Amino acid sequence: MLIEKMVLDRILEQRRSIRQFDITELPEEKLEAVIEAGRLAPFAGLVQKNTDSFRHFFVIHRDSETAAKLKALCEEARHEEVIRIEALGLGQKYPEAAKIAKAISEKPANDIFISPWLIVIAERGGLPQREEVCLGYIMENMWLKATEMELAFKICSGVSDIKNKDGLKELFGLPMDEVYAFDACNIGYPLNPITERREHEKPVKSIKYFR
Ligand SMILES: Cc1cc2nc3c(=O)[nH]c(=O)nc-3n(C[C@H](O)[C@H](O)[C@H](O)COP(=O)(O)O)c2cc1C
Repeated sequence: MLIEKMVLDRILEQRRSIRQFDITELPEEKLEAVIEAGRLAPFAGLVQKNTDSFRHFFVIHRDSETAAKLKALCEEARHEEVIRIEALGLGQKYPEAAKIAKAISEKPANDIFISPWLIVIAERGGLPQREEVCLGYIMENMWLKATEMELAFKICSGVSDIKNKDGLKELFGLPMDEVYAFDACNIGYPLNPITERREHEKPVKSIKYFR
């Protein structure tokens, strides 16, 4: 049976990582339309039962004081990562990634602000631990919404790589006695027209039925 493609199928096909941003800033209404898609993403029901304050969005301008503090946390994490890679000898198994980790640790973390705005998302965790998984759902909802709005969007792993969660909680005024997972995305207008994804950038079709 052939299933006809719908609006969502087109958006799924069009979604891609856009790494070059225009300097023009997105207005708050557009930022918040994307954030609303993240707010609607699933959450861990049992963990967050009877609470509604477990998900936060922080919208950070690249010229702000908060941006400078976030960059410092990111640089600290990158230095620690190089030490970890060396201690565990990971350079042998992942030579290319280890080389990149070393190179980026030697530079200021300006790359996390390649767009005028960065959105950091914090999801409170608990028991059972589901916060990291929830961030994935939030991010994908936001990414698809941004795609529909023809915006540029890129995951910014520099923030989720920060191991100093206390530093992040302090920076964003979150309760220090709670567990949070963090992720971030760059968002803005694309510098160049968004082109079609290339076929080879997708994983091959791999579906196996067990009947
Ligand atoms: C968990 C995760 C983290 C990622 N982190 C980054 C990142 O920090 N910087 C970046 O440029 N792309 C990042 N990406 C984007 C991937 O490189 C990208 O999704 C992949 O190359 C496929 O390209 P597409 O998004 O255009 O389909 C990340 C993707 C995932 C799923």
